[in-house]
Amino acid sequence: MSRLANKHIIIGVTGGIAAYKSPELVRRLVEEAALVQVVMSHHAQSFITPLTLQAVSGNPVRTELIDEGAEAAMSHIELARWADLIVVAPATANFMARLAGGFADDLLATLCLAARGPVALAPAMNEVMWSAAATRRNARQLEADERLLWGPGVGSQACGDEGAGRMLEPHALVEHCIAALTPKSLEGLCVVVTAGPTREAFDPVRYISNHSSGKQGFAMAAAAAAAGAHVELVTGPVSLPTPVGTHRTDLSSASEMYAAVMDKTANADIFIGVAAVSDYRPKHVQAQKIKKDRMEGEQLEIELVQNADIAACVASQHPGVYTVGFAAETQHLERHAREKRVRKGLDMIIANDVSDQSIGFNSDENAVTLVWDDGESRIASTPKSELGTILIERITELYRQSPKAR
Ligand code: PMT
Repeated sequence: MSRLANKHIIIGVTGGIAAYKSPELVRRLVEEAALVQVVMSHHAQSFITPLTLQAVSGNPVRTELIDEGAEAAMSHIELARWADLIVVAPATANFMARLAGGFADDLLATLCLAARGPVALAPAMNEVMWSAAATRRNARQLEADERLLWGPGVGSQACGDEGAGRMLEPHALVEHCIAALTPKSLEGLCVVVTAGPTREAFDPVRYISNHSSGKQGFAMAAAAAAAGAHVELVTGPVSLPTPVGTHRTDLSSASEMYAAVMDKTANADIFIGVAAVSDYRPKHVQAQKIKKDRMEGEQLEIELVQNADIAACVASQHPGVYTVGFAAETQHLERHAREKRVRKGLDMIIANDVSDQSIGFNSDENAVTLVWDDGESRIASTPKSELGTILIERITELYRQSPKAR
């Protein structure tokens, strides 16, 4: 994964119990090819050691404002300039207060004050401290100073309390970092993305479905949100966390997905259909569980009727929306994809070979061929998260060239 390739990120760690998650955050950023330097406050070192963070970042950890050796290698002002982004995670109530007050009394606070790029804080504290009047006032001041506040989340806390004050999980903070550093090429646009499978019930406990995990659709939604779009993510049943910055609608059947999508695309600019929508549904849904009280060898027949084609309906009923479909093919990939694009009236189709188990359904990677009106291009096997970013860039370019762009 390299969504943060060549990005310079300083992770600041202050003294709270959530500091145990900081090495995981650094590890994930490094996995995304970011160059990471860690700066710790004195109190942070009571919770985790600089050695741990040095090991995961691959760089010596800075702890002192006055440090002749470290300053000779890179002064604190150079370090602040080096950073594309500073993220303080965890950010304690005390650190928030110091930053809101403009203090420069340790290395981390000084770097935040000297930074030219964005400074983000992932607050972590007891829920009563988070809701205290002083913390609320500091949070407002920090936002007024254009500091980014990521979280906190709500849930159980180390002290045993429940409520707001949990530091966001490392994977969510990484998505925030990607969003903060991604050019806002879709700012002001609304993108509707479908993801996952649909389930077509034939009795109260059974359904027809497929192997879609939602990974590809969620990656598209995350990348579109990072590019500044308002993203409506309409998803069948999957077990994935909601991508940062998206509005999620969970549903089950193709008919429910049709209704949600037609409603949300009425005012959308771009539609991206990644969901593996069932083409058929059982004609009758039995009110009670079907019993196996048949004669030995007797067959159970389920009559199927066609579902509406959601992508084709968006294209025909909302002709101003730039429509992108995915094509799941098992043979003649390009030819079938070209035919499907024209048949459904789509602006673009992205074909993947789902007969290959290393890509397509429920895999972490995908390889695709993009087909549009007057062009085609191929992208070799890539992690789905990274592919989402590449595909959103290509879709944005082609959307901007189309007469539908606004
Ligand atoms: O979710 P993952 O595990 O990450 O897997 C990703 C994926 C393989 C599901 C994804 O990459 C993919 O190929 N999605 C499309 C699956 C599919 O339904 O393909 P299709 O060729 O049957 O349909 C073509 C297009 O029409 C798709 O955009 C589909 O969303 C849309 N469609 C299909 C049927 C229908 N009734 N309504 C639709 O809108």
